[in-house]
Amino acid sequence: MRTVTKDNITDVFKGYMSDKMDPRMREVMGSLVTHLHDFARETNLTHDEWRAGIAFLEGCAAIETEDRHEFILTSDVLGLSSLVDMLHSNPAATSSSVLGPFHVSGAPPLPVGGDMKRDFGGPILLAEGVVKDIDGNPIPGATIDIWQTAPNGLYASQDDAQDTYSFHGLQTVGADGRYAFTTVKPVEYTVPTDGPVGDILNACGRHPWRPSHLHYIVEAEGFSPLVTEIFPDDDPYLDEDTVFGVRSDLVMTYKERPAEEFPDGMVISDKVNEPFLYVEFDVILSRKD
Ligand code: BEZ
Ligand code: FE
Repeated sequence: MRTVTKDNITDVFKGYMSDKMDPRMREVMGSLVTHLHDFARETNLTHDEWRAGIAFLEGCAAIETEDRHEFILTSDVLGLSSLVDMLHSNPAATSSSVLGPFHVSGAPPLPVGGDMKRDFGGPILLAEGVVKDIDGNPIPGATIDIWQTAPNGLYASQDDAQDTYSFHGLQTVGADGRYAFTTVKPVEYTVPTDGPVGDILNACGRHPWRPSHLHYIVEAEGFSPLVTEIFPDDDPYLDEDTVFGVRSDLVMTYKERPAEEFPDGMVISDKVNEPFLYVEFDVILSRKD
C-alpha cells in the first residue's frame, strides 16, 4: 500500500496519469495540479476556505445562461483572459483584447460610412481607419464586427429597451481596406456585480468599472481573426480596467472637430450641425501560420 502524504500527493497524482495520454493534456494537467497543491500548501488552506471556493464555483454555475457567463467573467476579473490573449498575440499585429460576454452574432450589415447611433443622443463619434497586413497593404473584403453599449452603459443583450442589434454592425471594407462609421461616443460601464464575481471584487476592495471602448472582431481570408477594443486616452478608468484589457496600441485620441469639418459621404453627413469627435484607428492583421 502506498502512503499518500501532503508532501508526495502531487507526485502521486502525476503517477496516476497514463503514459498513453495526450502529451499536451499531461503537461497542462500536471502543471495545473502542481500549482493547485502548492497553493493549498502555501496558504495552509482551511476546510472553510475550500468550501467557500466550491460555493463560488457553484454560484457561477447556478446563474450561467446563454447571456450570462459568470465563469468567463471570473477569468476576466482575475486577469486570466487577458494573460492568455497576451501570450498568443503577434507583436507585429494590432493587440487583441477581451471579447466580453455581450457580443451578439449576426449583426446587420453596416455600409462603409454607415451609422450605428440612429436616434440615440450623445456626442457623435466618427471612427475610421484601414484594415491592413503587417507590411501595410490594405486587406480588401475584410469584415469588422463592431459593438458597444448604448449611452446608458448597457449592451443590447442587457437592456429590454434596445432591439437585438442596437449598437451592433458588420462592416465589409472595399478595395482600399477603409472602414468608417458614426456612433455615439462610448461610455464607461461596470461589469455585472450581482453574482459571485461581484463578491470577489468586493472582497478584494476593487471597483467593477471598465474604461469606455468600441469592440471590433476583424476577420479576413488567410489572416488570423482579431478580437480587440479601442479606448480614448482621456478615460478615467484607463489605468484600472477591471478586466485588464487596455494595451498601449489600442489607446487613441478622440479629436474634437467643428461641424463644418464633418466629411461628405457618410450616411449622416447632411444632418451634422454640432461639433463631433473623430478617431482614426488602423487595424493590422497577421497571416495565418
Ligand atoms: C466587455 O467589454 O463587454 C466586457 C469584457 C469583460 C467582462 C465584461 C464585459
Ligand atoms: Fe465592452
